[in-house]
Amino acid sequence: MAKVALITGSAVRLGREIAFHLAYSGWDLALHYRSSSKEIFDFEAELKIRYPDQRFHIFQTDLGVKEQTQNLIKQVIDRFGHLDLLVNSASVFEPSSLKETSTDLMIRHMMVNYVSPFILMRDFANIADNGQIINIADARIKNNKSDYLSYSLSKKSLWELTKMAALELAPHFRVNAIAPGAVLTPAGKDQRYLEKVAVNTPMKISSGVNSVLKSIDFIIDNEDLTGQLIYCDGGAHLL
Ligand SMILES: NC(=O)c1ccc[n+]([C@@H]2O[C@H](COP(=O)([O-])OP(=O)(O)OC[C@H]3O[C@@H](n4cnc5c(N)ncnc54)[C@H](OP(=O)(O)O)[C@@H]3O)[C@@H](O)[C@H]2O)c1
Repeated sequence: MAKVALITGSAVRLGREIAFHLAYSGWDLALHYRSSSKEIFDFEAELKIRYPDQRFHIFQTDLGVKEQTQNLIKQVIDRFGHLDLLVNSASVFEPSSLKETSTDLMIRHMMVNYVSPFILMRDFANIADNGQIINIADARIKNNKSDYLSYSLSKKSLWELTKMAALELAPHFRVNAIAPGAVLTPAGKDQRYLEKVAVNTPMKISSGVNSVLKSIDFIIDNEDLTGQLIYCDGGAHLL
């Protein structure tokens, strides 16, 4: 029986890359999106052509709305019959210092980046007998810079949740995290931005998305690995 993965935010960018990589590795996929409908339907069509023997289904959920998030795991399991891997990748990423952060922005970051992964992890653990969870955090969790205050706090919280969940849910579930540095250009920046960031890391280079994809394989393949965080940031978290 083919294994099933749910990847949140899989229409574009890193979530799409992760989904594409898992499809290549033989997984059936629950493709989650919120607003990128053209991208997700084009992506599903491409996957169905490339991998005609695998199953791909699309699920639309606003992860900022708890009533919607609370239905997602059940919908996926009803559709596929089971779920083996949850990748929490969808996120809000907006700058603002402590003084600039509105309560609404704090709540939005917390809902999408922390509370929704919590809901999905809890529901997965309550419904399935076993499985694994990979939370996409951010190398920013290591520092106390406040230029992305509510984003950074949401990701710090996600890492704390990862460790607590890993302990509670073992030995039936493994729960790990990946903390990328800048692996894709943010809105309004080009490739030179990534090169500039990379030069300022200890390793002076960035292997970009590949480093995240290899880390996902590493986590999946190591059957006793849980409660771990892999930084994919050229060593920037050491600074
Ligand atoms: N890109 C990087 O260099 C980098 C660096 C460090 C960490 N990360 C982490 O890696 C992950 C992916 O990064 P990314 O840059 O690819 O992400 P992104 O472009 O900022 O957003 C990814 C997805 O999040 C979904 N999303 C946003 N708000 C949502 C909501 N309310 N409900 C449901 N989905 C929502 C969007 O779905 P729709 O488009 O369908 O609306 C979008 O496709 C994130 O967790 C991010 O924090 C990325």
